[in-house]
Amino acid sequence: MTAVLASDLRDYLSKHDRRFHDELFEFLRIPSVSARSEHKQDMQRAAEWLAARMSDAGLAAEILPTPGHPIVLAEWRHAPAGAPTVLIYGHYDVQPVEPLDLWTSPPFEPTVRDGKIFARGSVDDKGQLFLHVKALEAHLKTRGSLPVNVVVLAEGEEEVGSEHLTEFIERHADRLRADFVVISDSAMFAPGLPSILSSLRGLAYFQIDVTGPAQDLHSGSYGGAVINPATALARIIASLHDENWHVAIDGFYDDVREWPAHVREAMRTLPFDEEHFREETGAPALGGERGFTTLERVWTRPTCEVNGLLSGYTGEGAKTVLPSKAMAKVSCRLVPDQDPKRIEQVMRAHLKRVAPEGVTAELTALHGGRPWRADLEGPLFDAARRALTAAFGREPVVTGEGGSIPVVGDFERILGAPVLLIGFGLPGENAHAPDEWMLDENFTKGMQAIAALWDELGK
Ligand code: BES
Ligand code: MN
Ligand code: MN
Repeated sequence: MTAVLASDLRDYLSKHDRRFHDELFEFLRIPSVSARSEHKQDMQRAAEWLAARMSDAGLAAEILPTPGHPIVLAEWRHAPAGAPTVLIYGHYDVQPVEPLDLWTSPPFEPTVRDGKIFARGSVDDKGQLFLHVKALEAHLKTRGSLPVNVVVLAEGEEEVGSEHLTEFIERHADRLRADFVVISDSAMFAPGLPSILSSLRGLAYFQIDVTGPAQDLHSGSYGGAVINPATALARIIASLHDENWHVAIDGFYDDVREWPAHVREAMRTLPFDEEHFREETGAPALGGERGFTTLERVWTRPTCEVNGLLSGYTGEGAKTVLPSKAMAKVSCRLVPDQDPKRIEQVMRAHLKRVAPEGVTAELTALHGGRPWRADLEGPLFDAARRALTAAFGREPVVTGEGGSIPVVGDFERILGAPVLLIGFGLPGENAHAPDEWMLDENFTKGMQAIAALWDELGK
């Protein structure tokens, strides 16, 4: 299985490498934070900037509004008769940057240190989306054509739950129809080790609001006679797991499908360094559901996590108060075939069962996404293996993932096309955190791999 990147493409990519970096840095300087209304204009600006670069590359690009942030759609459909059509998906929105003081260099001023490009969005996902644009440019500028038809869909709401994307795909299904979907929005297993992703977890995100007295009370005058909402919420949260860190919600595991033995076996052969993983987290020890390895826990098991807690007095010194309200953000990562809607139902029933009398507990579902698992068979995956080998000089491994990309399941369901996830991030890349980075070399090799992929797929 030897494949090489065609020399015209390789030459083009290396000759224009400086400009590609300059352009990427321009993209990264636009603070496209989808969660914040004060960045609404920046979202529009990022969409316009991206559409302009896609046009430069030789694609027909347009910006389509949604009730939220706009979608950038670009196409090139002049491949030889019988050539497949590929849909490339990525997102140009990024996560908020707080806490700002923990960044070594400003989040929207891309800076290279130790061969890493530091900036919010460098790896998630602007850098990975942009390398796709450049791989297309390499084909179109050197040869005036591509071996495959291409549709690029870049959304601006991935980091806030892709609320308007499913409807968009359903409405434009004819235009988006493709034989294959390709996404770079994930990480390689280790430096220099190209990876093909075989699974993603889904997500069901909730807010729990516990309300007691109509307003904060003096904890001496009333404490002991009025149920404390913070204590009630703590009980609710404690009820989510048993002593083995197994989720204790009735029905939670009903739809969990066994992981194929050969996939679990392949997982065990990966060069996983558990102590290094622990060290990266800074936690004193790793821990989780009894009976599973660390990788199994993250890739193959569903979870219920508290993402945030708010109640009472948390300022300087002490204040004797019995708070009126307590709130928690709780999200469950899901595995096949769990369904976020069904998880909402069992969570609702659980809350009803465990909420102490004397307070009201309200559940709001914020967003969700389905889990996904691929079989990794067929021409798309064969082409990917060859292209990654050509760029990295090494055969790819198959990995899993604990994070979520909600749209992946939709692509399969609505378009009926297999999805290939090849990411060029790395463990420790600080996605969503201060000092997010992308390895400069992976930006370059990513472009090479994707450029090679279109040749391999067109064969
Ligand atoms: N690119 C990530 C998904 C991901 C996370 C891939 C970790 C590989 C490793 C994506 O941008 C993301 O952050 N997804 C969110 C989904 C949510 C906001 C609906 C996630 O996983 O939390
Ligand atoms: Mn992403
Ligand atoms: Mn993300």
